[in-house]
Parts: sequence; C-alpha cells; structure tokens
Amino acid sequence: MLGYRGGELYLDGVSARAVAQRFGTPLYVYSRDLVLERFRALKKAFKARSPLICYALKANSNAALCRALAKAGAGADIVSGGELQRALRAGFKPRRIVFSGVGKTQEEMALALRSGVLTLNVESREELEALERTARRLRIPAPVSVRLNPDVDPGTHPHITTGISENKFGVEAGEALELYEKAVKSPWLKIQGIQCHIGSQITSVEPYLRAARSLARVAARLQKKGIRLGLMDMGGGLGITYDREKPLKLKVLAQGLARILAPWPQARLLLEPGRYLVAEAGVLLTTVLYRKKTARRRFAVVDAAMNDLARPALYGARHPVWPALRRSGPALPMDVVGPVCESGDFLAKGCLLAEPEPGDVLAVLKAGAYGFSMSSQYNSRPRAAEVLLKGGKAKLSRRRETLEDLIRCEEV
Ligand code: LLP
Repeated sequence: MLGYRGGELYLDGVSARAVAQRFGTPLYVYSRDLVLERFRALKKAFKARSPLICYALKANSNAALCRALAKAGAGADIVSGGELQRALRAGFKPRRIVFSGVGKTQEEMALALRSGVLTLNVESREELEALERTARRLRIPAPVSVRLNPDVDPGTHPHITTGISENKFGVEAGEALELYEKAVKSPWLKIQGIQCHIGSQITSVEPYLRAARSLARVAARLQKKGIRLGLMDMGGGLGITYDREKPLKLKVLAQGLARILAPWPQARLLLEPGRYLVAEAGVLLTTVLYRKKTARRRFAVVDAAMNDLARPALYGARHPVWPALRRSGPALPMDVVGPVCESGDFLAKGCLLAEPEPGDVLAVLKAGAYGFSMSSQYNSRPRAAEVLLKGGKAKLSRRRETLEDLIRCEEV
C-alpha cells in the first residue's frame, strides 16, 4: 500500500509527489482500500461473536471515508449532534448508531431519538433523568445503555485514559445498578445494554479483559433482578504501532472477550474502533519551505503545522516522516516543524532524514486518525484539503479552505 519504487514514495500505486503537486500541501491523503481491509480484519478476528462494529467518527469524519465504511456495513459511534448529522449523511443506518459522551444536550438527545439510533450511552444519573424528560416530551421511548467506569488503567497516555475513577467518564458499578433500576421502572426508557470505553491507543489485552469482567459482574447482578442486556459494548481504543509499540494481539483479545462474555450469548457484542480502522490509512503530505540549524538542532520548516496535526504537540506522539523522493546523503536527526508561533509546533523531533531541499515533499505517516478531525485554524491557517485514493485514483473529498472561509462567520 505504502512503499518506494525507484526512490519515489507511492500510496496505493499513486505517487505522493504527484498527488501533492496536483492538490497542493498540506494535504491529507487516505487509502480507502486500507480502511476497508482493516474493517474486514477486525470482523474476522471477532467473528465467533459477530460483533457490530461502530466506527468512532471522531477519529476521522471525512465524508467519503465514512461513506465507504457505512457501505461496508459498519455502524457509527458518535459523540455530538454534529457527528450524528455526518453519520446519517454518510449513510450509516440509524439502528447501527450509538451515541456516547458525558455531556449530551437535550437538543442532541432529541435529534438522536427522532433519528432512531440504536442506543444512547448515559454517564450519570442527571443525564439519565434528562434523557427520560426528553423522551417523555417527544413521546419517543429512549433506547439506553449505561456506561460503566470499571476503574481499569489501560496503560496509555494520561490524556486518553478514560476508565479510571479519576476520569469524568462512566459510572461505577454500584451506581450503574441504581441507574438500571430507575430505567426499568420508566415507560420512557428502554434498556439496551451496557458499555465501557477505557481509553485509546491501548496495546495490551489485559486491561480490556479486566474491564470485560467488570461488565460481566454487573450483567450477572442485573440478570438476578430480571434485567437482561441485549448489547455489550466494549468501546474502542484498539491501538496501532506508531513507532516502537508492540501491536495489540487482536485474536487473543477476541478469544478472551468471547470467554468472559460466554454466559451472555444473546447479547450482541459491540466495538467502537476509531484509530484502528483509519490511522494507518492516512498520511499528511507537507512541503519543505526552509532548512535551518542552531548550535543544537537541525530543522526542516514545512508548510504543515500543529493546527493540521496536533498529536505530536498534545501527546508527544511519534509519527514516522518519510520523504516523497529519497535523497542520497546521510540520514541526520532532524526536527520537522511548522510555521505556527509556538515551540510546541512540531510534527516530528529528531527523526532520521537525509537532508531535504526546499520544495521537497515529506509524508507524515499514520495520520489518518485524529489528524484532520482535530485540526484547527489556529494562527488563521485555513484547514488542509483531503483526498481519497480509490482503485489507484486520487479524488478530492474536501477542498482546501480559503482565506474567505476563515472570516465567513465574522461580523465587523
Ligand atoms: N468510543 C468512545 C466512547 C471514545 O471516547 C473513543 C475515543 C472511541 C470510541 C474511539 O477510540 P479509538 O478506537 O480511536 O482509540 N485524540 C486522541 C484520541 C482520543 C480518543 C477519544 N475517544 C489521539 O489523537 O490519540
């Protein structure tokens, strides 16, 4: 999918240099084939339990990509009214959409109920009460699941850990039971299942299994009270290898979950992967503007910045950087930095690169997840364009923003 031919970098048979020239940089380029391959690989690994795979749109809500996943039969995991709108527009079936998040507004709940989503995952008593009020007002019973906080440390970056009791997410087991008891008494709440999501970029199996055991304990207690769950949602978080991380053992995970959830064969397993499906299918292409050196470091100043890809600045993420055209010369440690006025503005630090020339195109790899979706207009920089590769052809799926776009909503 991604590799060199005659010193030139190709993505799905398309030259990185040519695509950068045609559409300009900074440019996000996604491989549709790789996303679909990942989707199939996941389905295969878990096939004993035939899960509903709900793609977490927050990782990348590009319309063309979403459409491809919807067409392949994926569901969607959404966290806002905006994502709901995008999911419906991309063709995800409402009955395959799950709505997560700690702060859904009543307007968002109403939109979800009118659209007929599969379930809303509630994360507090007050949210459950707000959902009941909304359902009663609209006279549409609300499908509901409770998000459990199993207090499990997934061993990932603290900013993306969500299942320990210091985090704002979910409710602990005792409170979950109370919420189910409340829900079962209400004609406006229809219990669907239970959910948890313990974090993102998780590369070991054990935290998932610990979380699943917590889920199973709650499910067992509910069963004794006559409450049966139709959905068991293990969230997302499946990690990938950016740099030196060990790959997550998917099959081991699938087998472990199947064992723990075996007493509930009637419950549908649900997964909410974002990163796993799209991270490796995306690159950010950027052009070298200038080179410079200080006594300590060597820099390549490029035309993409932290507003385009925030992960290195936010999480110290390490994305490999490859040249679109290989240059001869020794590989030297280089900081790849953008034009934004902050020292936190780097795409890579100390990556080994043969010295590029101004005008050279570099590819920041594994940028398909939380790349464009977290991009901003900081420093009044229009957002990058996005291109989808499909059957060896590049097609623009989101045009580059213009200076006019920057000021569109302003009044003077
Ligand atoms: N489900 C829920 C409820 C979530 O909160 C998330 C991600 C997912 C699913 C998808 O997680 P994934 O499979 O992509 O790990 N911006 C960060 C990641 C934040 C993840 C937030 N929640 C990053 O760039 O690493």
